[in-house]
Amino acid sequence: MKVKNKNFSTIWIENSEVKIIDQTKLPFEFKVQKLKSLNDFCKAIKDMKVRGAPLIGVTAAFGFAKSIERNSSKINIKKCYNKLLKTRPTAVNLKWALDTLKKKLLKTIPSKRAILATELANLIRNDDIENCKKIGQNGLRIIEQIYKKKKQTVNILTHCNAGWLATVDYGTALSPIFYANKAQIPIHVWVDETRPRNQGALLTSWELKNEKIPHTVIVDNAGGHLMQNGKVDLCIVGSDRTAMNGDVCNKIGTYLKALSAYENNIPFYVALPTSTIDRNLKKGSDIPIEIRDGKELSDLVFEKSNKLLSGRIYKNQTSTFNPAFDVTPSKFITALITENGICKANYPSIKKKLKK
Ligand code: MRU
Repeated sequence: MKVKNKNFSTIWIENSEVKIIDQTKLPFEFKVQKLKSLNDFCKAIKDMKVRGAPLIGVTAAFGFAKSIERNSSKINIKKCYNKLLKTRPTAVNLKWALDTLKKKLLKTIPSKRAILATELANLIRNDDIENCKKIGQNGLRIIEQIYKKKKQTVNILTHCNAGWLATVDYGTALSPIFYANKAQIPIHVWVDETRPRNQGALLTSWELKNEKIPHTVIVDNAGGHLMQNGKVDLCIVGSDRTAMNGDVCNKIGTYLKALSAYENNIPFYVALPTSTIDRNLKKGSDIPIEIRDGKELSDLVFEKSNKLLSGRIYKNQTSTFNPAFDVTPSKFITALITENGICKANYPSIKKKLKK
């Protein structure tokens, strides 16, 4: 997507070096960073300089490839795999990308591993872009249908950031929104702040602003009220891991939005590439939920006099609990929007989409 009229993706190779946009600085500062050592890659994922399920997977693939360029031994393959896998537990794209590389690298002679690893990382990156475009085109049909009936601005609620910053380009939940905007369908997006890291207020609103798409940031608790009062036509969110029965794990707070949408008869869609489907997982309750530092609740990063500062918004004298994701049971999900088309959130429909 464009940033100040220049095309950017979230991760790319320039002169054989891997570059990323440091998302911890957005929207205040647009900073590009080089990732070199395996530690750089692990830290970028852990510290959320790169985040969002698909992007975490692609970053891990490049981290793996860069390390194999330096040492293509079997021991190093296992070391890289284990180190990268430990960075963040919930988004399955990380394991999926690492498994893809490990399996193929172990079947290849050491002298050919470096080239193969880079080829695979590039393939995963390019596939992610193509898949997100298709998710956008498939999701556009849903927005078009609602607009045809309503003949007025379509109000879409989204949670967290499932835009191009969460993928390589285009995004998942925001991709249909970008396509609808291009198709000149009048839309307005309700952007959940998404406490505690505020990916909605900081990143989603930045993406929408760049595309000149009308949007309004709301506190996370406002969604129910808006849905109850007819201000939301549909919800679209992303997914970090989807179980084979259609349960979806996404940013904490997604479940509450789905409950409210269900109660108010508002369609609730989840947009995801099939790389986010965990083929080995029967149900969402088995998904490992990342528990992050409780400090994220009380300590916020903010801008003052053009400087990024961090400060406490309440005294951290009591115990805190900070689960980063929750699971939305499939019965609350209207449909899944994938690169292979739209499907019901249940086992037989998901199985069909995986066969494509
Ligand atoms: O903790 P984050 O910022 O990595 O969480 C991101 C999300 O929850 C997104 O909604 C999800 O990864 C889907 S992104 C395409």
